[in-house]
Amino acid sequence: MNDNVFPDHNKFINRADKEKLLNQHAIVIWMTGLSGSGKTTLANHIALELNRRGYITQLLDGDNIRSGINSNLGFSIDDRYENIRRISEVSKLFIDCGIICINSFISPTHKIRRLAKEIIGIENYFEVFVNAPIEVCESRDVKGLYKKARKGELQNFTGIDAPFDIPEDPSITVKTNKQSVDESVLKIMEKILPLVRYKDE
Ligand code: ADX
Repeated sequence: MNDNVFPDHNKFINRADKEKLLNQHAIVIWMTGLSGSGKTTLANHIALELNRRGYITQLLDGDNIRSGINSNLGFSIDDRYENIRRISEVSKLFIDCGIICINSFISPTHKIRRLAKEIIGIENYFEVFVNAPIEVCESRDVKGLYKKARKGELQNFTGIDAPFDIPEDPSITVKTNKQSVDESVLKIMEKILPLVRYKDE
């Protein structure tokens, strides 16, 4: 950190004021899992369900973020770490605005997820492990990337020649090869609705 900068946040209105205004409690719903496991699909459905109930959300997604703010990052372990560091800082800005953030990033290692949790704050962080076996993700291969990775046209591909650590302590796990999208969404919604409900303290 630069010694010559002096952060000074929220002089007059803070997160609690904004949450009151929006009538919601902000959290970060962090979807982790292999490419093709269903993170983005679930995130979009959760956003819709929350929106229907009057909650304001923001979706942050690997492919979108990597086309914009993180377009200078690749898939080395250091770049993935920096990807998640920036996203976690951005997520913090959203929850400081009272907005529920739904993030879909492979976030492949324990170290990377620990960083996200530290930056966002454990009390604001809800981790969803979107769990589908690699064979299933590979057979879906929606973007054709597994095929490229197998042919050696794409290096450092998660699950093929780059690691994915199984999350040790997720807030919830959904098995997208065993349950339907609706079932997974329902399971996640049951857990998050009590967390995002506004409580005047
Ligand atoms: S993370 O590892 O840094 O969390 P992130 O979620 O942002 O990854 O980006 C993953 C997306 O980038 C994948 O869904 C896929 O579309 C694309 N991608 C391109 N190259 C790779 C790669 N080598 N490994 C994984 N995903 C890749």
